[in-house]
Amino acid sequence: MGRLDKLPPYLFSAIDAAKEKARAAGVSVVDLGVGDPDRPTPGALVEVMARAVADPAFHCYPAQRGDAGLKQAIALWLAERHGVQVDPASQVLVLVGSKEGLGHLPLTCVEEGDNVLVPDLGYPVYGQSTILAGGEPRTFSLNAEMGFLPDLDELARLMDDRTRLMFLNYPNNPTGAVAGQAFWKQVVELCRERNVILVNDAAYLEVTLDGSRPASLLRTADPLADRVIELHSLSKMFNMTGWRIAFAAGHPDVVGDLARVKESIDSGVFSAIQATAAHALGESFTGLLDEVMSAYPERRKVMVDALTTAGFEVFDSAATFYVWCRVPGDEMSVDFCSRALEEIGVVVTPGPGFGSGGEGWFRISLTASDEDVAEGARRIGAWR
Ligand code: MLT
Repeated sequence: MGRLDKLPPYLFSAIDAAKEKARAAGVSVVDLGVGDPDRPTPGALVEVMARAVADPAFHCYPAQRGDAGLKQAIALWLAERHGVQVDPASQVLVLVGSKEGLGHLPLTCVEEGDNVLVPDLGYPVYGQSTILAGGEPRTFSLNAEMGFLPDLDELARLMDDRTRLMFLNYPNNPTGAVAGQAFWKQVVELCRERNVILVNDAAYLEVTLDGSRPASLLRTADPLADRVIELHSLSKMFNMTGWRIAFAAGHPDVVGDLARVKESIDSGVFSAIQATAAHALGESFTGLLDEVMSAYPERRKVMVDALTTAGFEVFDSAATFYVWCRVPGDEMSVDFCSRALEEIGVVVTPGPGFGSGGEGWFRISLTASDEDVAEGARRIGAWR
């Protein structure tokens, strides 16, 4: 079987198709599916971008690994916000969105016959990029009993001398689970012993609803000694999903290998966007990040109150803008979510879209307007 034949359909493409079909049939759809912030990019950033776009200095190819100003801003931001020291020249790489970095990482180290540990529950790209690189995704389970953290013994059992990478994602999509410093310490040690590159997809590190600062992989590991890489994204931090701007930071060899792969594939991010990203990171210290995140706590409360009043079981979390909820009874997740669209016009994501471990669960995204979240909560609550 060819690599493309091994790829399952992309989760959100299938959901988009179902949504469009329902709209065409006249259903008034409340879309709580994909995690794409409804609010616009903050006006101050749009103004910086407008000025940058008009500046011919930004019209040429960007630097291949990222513009020096942005890499400097990233290093400063990591130091001040997370207490992480990295050399901007050798340990930071600008990405065309973190999905791009996740998609290309296996190409740095996976050969035919190698395997990569991927979470089941997880963002589909981890397994799909492994397949595209010719490797075998080996799944480890995340379940509610363990707070959606992996069992370290299972990880150790799954690793062999062909294991090249392990993907983790905390704070976690789709569950909202958060990993603490003690967990990171143990998993870093395991990967060090087994010579496995450890990746944390940190796209939701700043998406907290209670102002907390979850531990990060980079904060725990020694990114000069440990073969680790963490991918951060401005998409959810600053409502910039469409801009495609993110960065990787970590061990110089791992970051350098990813840069080499990218040199053969893309030519970097438009420098005007990079200049805006540098500005945004600076502004995060003066309240911009808090302002963006202030959209979510009330939405979560409205949704969770409606769900629990209606008897749904919700995974308790103050991180990410997702609500992870059990499907009532023994109905399959996909059937439940299809019925939700057909009967009450609400789009939610079936848990198995993130792996077989998601059976019996569904995900609600809080990235719709306050009115739509309230309406979705009302419809789901009244439906049960
Ligand atoms: C999601 O809904 O899981 C994410 O928004 C998808 C993405 O970040 O590409």
